[in-house]
Amino acid sequence: MSAAHKNDNQLLLGIDLGTSRTAIMTSRGTREMVRSVVGYPKDLIGVKLLGKPYAVGQEALDKHSYLDLRYPLGEGVLKELSDRDLDVARHLIDYVLQLAQPEDGDEIAGVIGIPARASAADKTLLLNMAQEVMDTALVVSEPFMVAYGLDILLNAIVIDIGAGTIDIAALKGMMPGPEDQITLHKAGDYLDGKLKAELQEAYPDIQLTNLIASHIKEQHSFVGDSPAGIINVNFRADGRPVVYSVQDQIRNVCESIVPDIIENVTALLRTFDPSVQDAVLQNIILAGGGSLIHGLDEMIADQLAEYGDTRVVKVADANFAAAEGAIKLAMDLPPMYWNQLGEMIGAPE
Ligand SMILES: Nc1ncnc2c1ncn2[C@@H]1O[C@H](COP(=O)(O)OP(=O)(O)OP(=O)(O)O)[C@@H](O)[C@H]1O
Ligand SMILES: [Mg+2]
Repeated sequence: MSAAHKNDNQLLLGIDLGTSRTAIMTSRGTREMVRSVVGYPKDLIGVKLLGKPYAVGQEALDKHSYLDLRYPLGEGVLKELSDRDLDVARHLIDYVLQLAQPEDGDEIAGVIGIPARASAADKTLLLNMAQEVMDTALVVSEPFMVAYGLDILLNAIVIDIGAGTIDIAALKGMMPGPEDQITLHKAGDYLDGKLKAELQEAYPDIQLTNLIASHIKEQHSFVGDSPAGIINVNFRADGRPVVYSVQDQIRNVCESIVPDIIENVTALLRTFDPSVQDAVLQNIILAGGGSLIHGLDEMIADQLAEYGDTRVVKVADANFAAAEGAIKLAMDLPPMYWNQLGEMIGAPE
């Protein structure tokens, strides 16, 4: 059997399993994103309304009024280990796999990007779950996937600002070990809560939820000078529409993550050989949904200027950067070599 023929029924997957959203790309060109949430009807009425046992992703969010929403990757790793929680993760993974449109007889091999801090137990659990739907699976840390997708594997630092965590990784030409990665727990979700609190303090009459605050953040986020000047937003107060300006609260909240980032980037910088630290400063990569904060790349570069000339690059597509790296790795390297890269299941010939 020729190698080309053998590849016909091989379906390769690159998956980025995140707290707030999961992205998947395949060797057949599929590129899909789903919110990492599963919704279960609260009662029999909900079952009737939904017409199925559960809904995944945007559908679950749209119907949240009568569903119990569960986030299987709260904080980026499997939160609790009860059977119910495992089922939630399983339902998400099943759904993501269906997006890949596998055909009968496909041999499925997936590279799964997971948060840098995932424990050994989390990895094993995820691999066991992946084994139910794939022939071969490899778990790799998410910041490494981002770097691999950009072909930057040496003398670089990746800052991945997600919902649950900010993961910072030093790239030294090999798989980053625990000492090369730092996880900060004040990330996107934290900013949502902080923005809600600051807006509520400034305008006590308005009705706010974390979801509303998150939406305002995603629409208008910036650090430094407001690119839009005064930012007016519509709220509801006592049921009536009101308009308030929010630029001061947004700036304050978005800038609150910068000191932590600088402190930890410089800590990782010091772990490189002094002879390459200049090169590392030229290779700082900003990824994850938080990389969309306007002006953040410049602010980080400015604050690192005392260490040397710094260049901070934002990934082109914050939603797919890690999945792109994962599918690239899967396609570059036949699954038979994956065991050299990290923990995997399946024993491909
Ligand atoms: N334009 C924006 N400005 C600021 N933050 C944004 C913007 N767009 C998305 N975000 C935030 O980015 C976060 C989601 O990023 P991402 O999809 O990288 O996270 P994740 O991979 O699901 O989480 P994690 O990596 O922690 O598991 C959310 O907190 C979201 O509100
Ligand atoms: Mg992420």
